[in-house]
Amino acid sequence: MPKIGILTSGGDAPGMNAAVRAAVRTALFNGFEACGIERGYEGLIDGEIRDMDVSSVADILHRGGTILQTARSDRFRTEEGISKAVMMIQSFGIDALIIVGGDGSMRGALELAKRGVNVMCLPGTIDNDLGYTDFTIGFDTAVHTVLSAISNVRDTSSSHERTTIIEVMGRHCGDIALYSGLAGGAESILVPEKPYDISAICKKIIIGRNRGKRHNIIIKAEGVDIDPFDMAKLIQERTGVESKVVVLSYLQRGGSPTANDRILATSCAYKAVELIRDGSRNRAIGIAANEIVHFDLADALKMAQPFRENYLAMADVLS
Ligand code: F6P
Repeated sequence: MPKIGILTSGGDAPGMNAAVRAAVRTALFNGFEACGIERGYEGLIDGEIRDMDVSSVADILHRGGTILQTARSDRFRTEEGISKAVMMIQSFGIDALIIVGGDGSMRGALELAKRGVNVMCLPGTIDNDLGYTDFTIGFDTAVHTVLSAISNVRDTSSSHERTTIIEVMGRHCGDIALYSGLAGGAESILVPEKPYDISAICKKIIIGRNRGKRHNIIIKAEGVDIDPFDMAKLIQERTGVESKVVVLSYLQRGGSPTANDRILATSCAYKAVELIRDGSRNRAIGIAANEIVHFDLADALKMAQPFRENYLAMADVLS
């Protein structure tokens, strides 16, 4: 029987388990054997591979993290590491690999594809930084987590009439900041894609205070080149408004996935197995205009991520 291997790689994202469950069960339904590879490419290099049956993925749909564990593998960046991984794929009789991860993991998959391995990539990252798909698995959950933080922070910010900077994840892509800022009514949203203007931020705080506004929420993506604590100090000095900082960090990577993330993960994994079954090779699977789409992996990785200028403009007008 042909065999499909599944691995999760890079930073974890809520919905990875939903993808693993769907990949295993769809594979078995279509007459494949399924195996799980532990700790991403690290486990692949070391041959940490186990067979998976229907029950091995029971009760995980709603769970954050990944039952397969994940890792960022430096060894997989070397020719030696990649060769070992290919050898393991051959030794374990794996005919195709389903890889759930972000940009780096997909680039790793491309190296395997160049060496003859059939790879199907699912966009698993909270960052939403892959150009070929409208959304990545885990992004929606992360935005909801930030929204809940914004709500709590707004309560205490209002009581004390403070400004609070909430730093969210996103080294190169400001989507978590942008979507949560727009949905949460943040006064200012700072993203790595756009320069920020500290004077404009301070002016907004002063105008807000003069019209009786009690809170100010600034959402700053981690990739914006200023330390949030330095920024709070600067704002406090310039406006006279007490300013605090909340760094959400890894909080955003955990938690039970939202319905959107579960459905996205499930649909992408289901499609990946169908593609393998029908003889496709090396595809990146995602969602565009609410439909599941897939592209040649190398082409997908060249597609630029559009930035939603209009979201930033709306947030500015409305806050
Ligand atoms: O998963 C993406 C991401 O969360 C980034 O936004 C963040 O900067 C990075 O991963 C940090 O992850 P780690 O410390 O696990 O490498």
